[in-house]
Amino acid sequence: MAAWWWKLGPVNVLLCSFLLTVFSASPYYKQAPSTSDAPLVLLVSFDGFRWDYLDRNKTPSFDSFVRDGVKAKYLFDTFASKTFPNHYTIATGLYQESHGIVGNNMYNVSTGAKFTLRHKFNSSWWEGGEPIWVTNQNQGGHSGLIMYPGMEIQIRGQYPSYRLPKYNSTFPYEERINIMTRLFANGSINLGLLYFREPDHSGHMLGPNSPDMDAVIQMCDETLGYLMKKLRDAGLGDRVDVIVTSDHGMTPVSKDNFTQLDDFVDPELYYYTDNNPVIGIWPHKESDVDVIYNKLQGASPHVSVYLKDEIPAQYHYRDNPRIAPILLVAKEGWAIHVGNKTGSHFLNYKGNHGFNNSLMSMHPIFVARGPSFRQGLLVEPFENVNIYPLICKILGLEPAPNNGSLENVQDLLKYSELVTIMTTNEKGIITEPPPSTWSTGTVIGIAVAGAILLVAACLLLAMCARQRSYRQQPREYTPIADTSLEGVDEIADSGFSSYNYPNTKI
Ligand SMILES: *[C@@H]1O[C@H](CO)[C@@H](O)[C@H](O)[C@H]1NC(C)=O
Ligand SMILES: *[C@@H]1O[C@H](CO)[C@@H](O)[C@H](O)[C@H]1NC(C)=O
Ligand SMILES: *[C@@H]1O[C@H](CO)[C@@H](O)[C@H](O)[C@H]1NC(C)=O
Ligand SMILES: *[C@@H]1O[C@H](CO)[C@@H](O)[C@H](O)[C@H]1NC(C)=O
Ligand SMILES: *[C@@H]1O[C@H](CO)[C@@H](O)[C@H](O)[C@H]1NC(C)=O
Ligand SMILES: *[C@@H]1O[C@H](CO)[C@@H](O)[C@H](O)[C@H]1NC(C)=O
Ligand SMILES: *[C@@H]1O[C@H](CO)[C@@H](O)[C@H](O)[C@H]1NC(C)=O
Ligand SMILES: *[C@@H]1O[C@H](CO)[C@@H](O)[C@H](O)[C@H]1NC(C)=O
Repeated sequence: MAAWWWKLGPVNVLLCSFLLTVFSASPYYKQAPSTSDAPLVLLVSFDGFRWDYLDRNKTPSFDSFVRDGVKAKYLFDTFASKTFPNHYTIATGLYQESHGIVGNNMYNVSTGAKFTLRHKFNSSWWEGGEPIWVTNQNQGGHSGLIMYPGMEIQIRGQYPSYRLPKYNSTFPYEERINIMTRLFANGSINLGLLYFREPDHSGHMLGPNSPDMDAVIQMCDETLGYLMKKLRDAGLGDRVDVIVTSDHGMTPVSKDNFTQLDDFVDPELYYYTDNNPVIGIWPHKESDVDVIYNKLQGASPHVSVYLKDEIPAQYHYRDNPRIAPILLVAKEGWAIHVGNKTGSHFLNYKGNHGFNNSLMSMHPIFVARGPSFRQGLLVEPFENVNIYPLICKILGLEPAPNNGSLENVQDLLKYSELVTIMTTNEKGIITEPPPSTWSTGTVIGIAVAGAILLVAACLLLAMCARQRSYRQQPREYTPIADTSLEGVDEIADSGFSSYNYPNTKI
């Protein structure tokens, strides 16, 4: 394909470039690349990868990845800074109050139904948002999820085209990557979502500032190195747009720094949802809301206490029946305990997250590289709700309603400068016109070229005719062989009983 262009000769190429610039004056110039050049996106999440873990000098693979791509100084996660809520925000572009996964533990006050990481399978919890994999499938694409939260759930009538049957934290990282690479290489998917539970798990156990975390960060770096090598070996090194991000950061906590709620309120008066450091209080009697609230007001300098409609607007965490009438949020580094805390896994934590999402310690990473992304670019932080429209843009999908905006992230993408129009188009990227700079010279240039524009237009039409439609005919796919993963295995935040660091070294 590439050679075909150059047979046209430099003059014609220049002309076509002019024409493309003229035609692309409409705000979104969208071409229809041939199937084999269709865009491919792989989203990778390393749970709890705090933004500044990249500054520890332990990440040569990330460093080289970033040299070829883009990096945000950090990413803003959404409140609450928790695993499932933020993974679903990344997938849907919606704030938690809008997609409805507002905690790793949730409560349906009308039915008494509970959501936990063991009991998460009922679709009804997930229907508030349309995840990117469903958007992709609805528009003719095929998505593969390897351990990404939501993998096992039928959402809006659809499972991912490819998935593993059940989350399994000990399933080797290497094997996850091997499967994902094969799915791209054999043309089964155009979108992949890949999840790793580290460095979150070790961050909880060791504390983010522990020197022992270096080995964990290094292991994650080797994982990225292995992924990029596998993609290169499959001839996909420069074909796939790879986005590496995370759900939240991590901050040190101490078992001594906690507020015991029973010291202030009779625990018989309420039910609670525990997403420490965020606790939802559901008074049994509506009349007790004010009673409990008043007792907790000012009880501890280490806990913010909110009635639901007082929850800070910037949290976008209010407008959902799954958010409790009273919300408690511990200050950074603190915990809230209810009842007999003996045996609580939080006592063993040296790191935690879930706090105010504007704290530096809560920010995760965002890096990306591939044919759609610019190279060697460092950008200002942006919110993770923008990742959904970004992926939609790259894949040429019509996004579902969301809280992100392409404007916030379009600088990450290559612009349609004259030369990049041609190179990126061949890789199937939707490019945007450069800011209009109609100098007199340009106008004269176009006027002079005017006489032969018609000839060039014919060339362009011929070129367009050569492009085949992006959409593949729907094909039948078989699910990945069931490697007899059974039983339940919790993701992150799951306590420490199965702790056997580092359990996933590759
Ligand atoms: C899922 O939840 C809905 C709504 O709460 C309920 O009606 C349904 O019975 C549940 N399904 C299963 C399989 O538990
Ligand atoms: C625990 O609280 C003490 C007193 O406020 C503070 O000095 C210390 O930094 C806290 N520990 C952590 C891990 O935040
Ligand atoms: C609780 O379950 C009912 C019954 O399925 C459902 O209609 C309602 O939307 C659910 N409420 C919440 C807050 O999830
Ligand atoms: C708290 O629980 C532990 C074990 O779970 C038990 O040994 C202890 O007696 C309990 N303490 C109180 C005050 O109930
Ligand atoms: C959250 O943290 C930011 C940054 O430290 C601070 O400006 C803001 O006031 C905090 N918000 C709340 C509700 O504590
Ligand atoms: C987020 O998007 C949803 C869906 O479009 C919308 O209902 C909601 O109002 C938006 N939230 C904000 C804060 O704009
Ligand atoms: C592609 O690879 C995946 C993963 O190995 C496999 O499950 C699937 O059957 C393959 N599909 C095709 C069409 O070869
Ligand atoms: C999880 O994966 C490991 C490694 O493949 C396997 O040995 C184990 O049986 C799996 N666990 C479950 C519950 O399937």
